[in-house]
Amino acid sequence: MNRGKTIRRVAVIGAGMMGHGIGQIFAQAGCDVALFDSEEKVLKKAVPRIKKSLDIFTKNGLIRKKDVKGILSRISLSRSLDEAVKDADYVVEAIVEDLAKKQNLFAILDSLCPPTTILASNTSAIMIKDLSVKAVHKERIIGTHFWNPPQLVPLVEVIRGDPTLPEVMETTVRLMKRIGKEPARVNQDVPGFVGNRLQHALWREAVSIVEHGIAEPEDVDRVIKMGFGLRLPTVGPLETADLAGLDLVLSIHDYLFPFLDASKEGSPALRNRVHARKLGPKTGEGFYKWTTPYLKKVIQQRDEFLLFWQKRMKGSKKAR
Ligand SMILES: NC(=O)c1ccc[n+]([C@@H]2O[C@H](COP(=O)([O-])OP(=O)(O)OC[C@H]3O[C@@H](n4cnc5c(N)ncnc54)[C@H](O)[C@@H]3O)[C@@H](O)[C@H]2O)c1
Repeated sequence: MNRGKTIRRVAVIGAGMMGHGIGQIFAQAGCDVALFDSEEKVLKKAVPRIKKSLDIFTKNGLIRKKDVKGILSRISLSRSLDEAVKDADYVVEAIVEDLAKKQNLFAILDSLCPPTTILASNTSAIMIKDLSVKAVHKERIIGTHFWNPPQLVPLVEVIRGDPTLPEVMETTVRLMKRIGKEPARVNQDVPGFVGNRLQHALWREAVSIVEHGIAEPEDVDRVIKMGFGLRLPTVGPLETADLAGLDLVLSIHDYLFPFLDASKEGSPALRNRVHARKLGPKTGEGFYKWTTPYLKKVIQQRDEFLLFWQKRMKGSKKAR
């Protein structure tokens, strides 16, 4: 499985929100990248989006201006799936989160690519074995869960599916490090992997707190943004538990857990909003009212922080 062979040519299938950013990262790391999307208008937008992002990277000193041309020259747009994966050493699937569509795509990729080519999925939550059902060479299929925006968030969860070969896992972890990412190994094929299990456990409780009138959305978010969320980039929950003392943590858990939301499906508070088309910025309202300036401000603040973090990481890597 790509034994000893350096991965040079990468195909990214699906060039939307995640795919174009994933393509950018590989191109920045020196790989040739073929991008393909079934929607021509999405594919056409990919390079302008990458250019805009590279511009921000340049302004923030994360890449040199003179390197931009080279990065862009390594990215090509493919008119078909066959053209995109031809000669690819590694394929990343970033199409819509639809099980049947992903299963069909993996069956086609499996038939197009030699068995030594690793096929990775950027699925947010679907088990890798479920994606692989129609493929013959399931052993080369793996999860690489990049986080949005992929060019700014360092983490990639690398998920080993039940049939995935250990060497596919090792090659992928090495590749993620090579392209400057922070891989986290997920050793079992479970829905939601690690990140989305943690994230959605938090969101379930946040929605429940709002649903029960305990606090308004602004205050729930404030508790995290101005409270324990500030510690999270440097001290994870398990480190924090150790620092607090596990005896204290246990007594809190024994007292508190019976009061926490343990529902097995999405809450009525969420379902009612969805039925009322209160979906968030795309319909103008969710838990918040989303005007265009407010949306711009939130995204800008998020990206400024992520850029600050990228610069910090780049600085600490240089110092090592
Ligand atoms: N958006 C996020 O925050 C985020 C974060 C992490 C992971 N993901 C995952 O990444 C994947 C992509 O999400 P996104 O947000 O980029 O979605 P998106 O809708 O922006 O992009 C998906 C693209 O896939 C294309 N597509 C659909 N079927 C195709 C096919 N058969 N062949 C080629 N292209 C096809 C669509 O035209 C679309 O442009 C999903 O699995 C999603 O769960 C998303």
